[in-house]
Amino acid sequence: MKRVAVIFLCIVGVLLIQPACRDGQFDNLSGEESSVPANLPHLASESVELGELIYAQHCASCHGLDLEGEANWKEPNPDDSFRAPPHDASGHTWHHGDAQLLEAIQRGGARIPAKFGSSQMPGYAGTLTETEMIAVLDYIKSTWPDELRLVQWQQTLQTGTP
Ligand code: HEC
Repeated sequence: MKRVAVIFLCIVGVLLIQPACRDGQFDNLSGEESSVPANLPHLASESVELGELIYAQHCASCHGLDLEGEANWKEPNPDDSFRAPPHDASGHTWHHGDAQLLEAIQRGGARIPAKFGSSQMPGYAGTLTETEMIAVLDYIKSTWPDELRLVQWQQTLQTGTP
């Protein structure tokens, strides 16, 4: 009887201390030391690798091979359209939740109302599958420090997942 009570208390303890165990979708289940906060979603390495290939093929020409964006990206082009911003920490990709980023890739510049400006970014809805678009986002996220990933994940929780 005593042993049953001890086991029960252990299970309750694990559930209370490790919320990550409850929903199973988060990293940090291995119990190993990790710098990744427990509530940050895990980025699967296959997805990150696929995303890196797709990024190099479809996105790097404008956003830069190292995600550095176009030179003088804060200045408009001569035709007043936007330049491609960086996807690294110096840009603002990490300010947006997943649903908004996915829409940017799906629809490109067409999603921007004319009164806010114009963008030559193509929409990829007919070119890439949703899995491939999410893979590109996973690759981009994999280059960010945890603090930025946390901000972006909180934004996703507030604004919705795709
Ligand atoms: C022809 C150039 C071009 C290509 C190719 C391109 N983009 Fe863009 N992208 C832009 C420009 C310009 C903007 C800024 C205006 C806008 O938001 O549409 C932008 C904005 C974005 C944004 C919004 C960033 C933010 O902080 O608001 C995302 C996300 C994005 N691009 C992802 C991608 C991905 C992923 C690819 C490849 C699959 C890609 N882009 C290919 C030009 C391009």
